[in-house]
Amino acid sequence: MNTSTRLRIAIQKSGRLSKDCQSLLKQLGIKLNLREQRLIAHSTNMPIDVLRVRDDDIPGLVMDGVCDLGIVGENVLVETQAERERVGQPNAVEKLSKLDFGYCRLALAWPQELGQQSKDWFKGKRIATTYPEILKQYLAAENIDASVVMLTGSVEVAPRAGLADAICDLVSTGATLEANGLMQGETILESNACLIQNANLNDDAKLSLINKLLPRLKGVKQAKE
Ligand code: PRP
Ligand code: ZN
Ligand code: MG
Repeated sequence: MNTSTRLRIAIQKSGRLSKDCQSLLKQLGIKLNLREQRLIAHSTNMPIDVLRVRDDDIPGLVMDGVCDLGIVGENVLVETQAERERVGQPNAVEKLSKLDFGYCRLALAWPQELGQQSKDWFKGKRIATTYPEILKQYLAAENIDASVVMLTGSVEVAPRAGLADAICDLVSTGATLEANGLMQGETILESNACLIQNANLNDDAKLSLINKLLPRLKGVKQAKE
């Protein structure tokens, strides 16, 4: 549990969401001194600390109450919830808001030279992914008996490296698939960044600070429409 009296927010240290997260916090009026190497940044004008971590760790940190809030992609949230469900760990969070950045699709892809393929092609194949739980649920629902190869990074090189026949990975602009000669297939999940809160947060001061920030967030979102 986060026993600090300061509201602790987890954001991605470096990656697709980090710039947008930093500018969102700024637009919410949270002044931060974000020095490159620092894990924790203390706000200079509000009782808020920002923890900068790997995006994959954010849902767990919020579920376990190490952080009060987190900004993370729905893809990572859904995967962590399913994984924790499977092993019987707490996995509840309160989703406070869907954010208007970080859109991406979790999609199947395979080597371009194979041309268009139907779902049946995946039967008996090896599919590399960072999202094994979401992929396994999809495969079960579609009655596709395929093996799932878990990779934490560089998923797009797996077919060329002979580690898998196909992949299931995030696609944003499509540049990564293109650069690796992969062809995009069915979308399994669409995702945006979202703001999540620990489900058991009961500190009055923190809750009232969050209640002060939420209307601002609404304002920031409306201003962009
Ligand atoms: C994803 C994915 C690809 C890239 C696709 O990684 O794994 O590498 O984005 O984007 P594109 O279609 O615009 O080329 P991401 O940076 O989201 O996360 P990661 O660092 O957790 O793999
Ligand atoms: Zn990640
Ligand atoms: Mg990546």
